Amino acid sequence: MTKTGNIVILTGAGISAESGLSTFRDENGLWAQHRIEEVATPEAFARNPARVHRFYNARRKQALHAMPNAAHHALTELQQKWPYDLLLVTQNVDDLHEKSGSRAVHMHGALMRALCAACAHRWDSPADLSVEDTCPACGAHTARPDIVWFGEMPYHMQDILSALQNCDLFAAIGTSGQVYPAAGFVQEALSAGAATVELNLKDSDMSYAFQDQITGPASETVPQWVGRLLSQA
Ligand code: APR
Repeated sequence: MTKTGNIVILTGAGISAESGLSTFRDENGLWAQHRIEEVATPEAFARNPARVHRFYNARRKQALHAMPNAAHHALTELQQKWPYDLLLVTQNVDDLHEKSGSRAVHMHGALMRALCAACAHRWDSPADLSVEDTCPACGAHTARPDIVWFGEMPYHMQDILSALQNCDLFAAIGTSGQVYPAAGFVQEALSAGAATVELNLKDSDMSYAFQDQITGPASETVPQWVGRLLSQA
């Protein structure tokens, strides 16, 4: 289904899979190899910051070498040409939307940024962040990746909710629908009267809530979907 008007697009790890970045919950995904409680919570960082840095340093190195794929590029074209409002929200902490030329709201933070756990100052992260790094603003040894961990509040929620309340079309691309609040965006969009479409390799936990489903690899389905939208705009 397509519908002209304001669009909100939510992307997840599936859109970056064909760029060589691991997803979280697919077979051999990151959460099959690492325990969330050991690398992705504030408590994990307090207990063993070096281990958490090792995990995100490895993610950052992979992302530094990754290139956007046809799905990222199609969304960039859509953002440039769409005549109404379009908010691109990503749960991804990689920078592939930006490398492709899109502006994306990173609700789960950004691998390429560092955050001071003491004073909340943010700066560009070096490729390797460590317990030795000091905050450029306050000098404390409290540098952490600027990532929203489990138990923390996602970023930009007010802007996202307001866009959802005013959207005519909501699309979720490559996300398993297992992590809130993002998993609930489809319900927000439906309450606003929007059309909803899910693009994924397979059914997600939230598939039942979407009016339309487009199944297949994002590098194929997203450019086709964008082409249809632009031809009707
Ligand atoms: N094309 C389309 N979809 C794909 C592709 C592909 N090539 N490859 C995988 N997928 C789909 C999978 O079917 C799955 O539904 O992408 C989804 C990936 O799901 P997750 O690994 O759970 O990733 P995501 O939904 O982004 O995770 C949400 O969980 O731990 C966190 O903070 C992390 O932002 C992340 C959040």
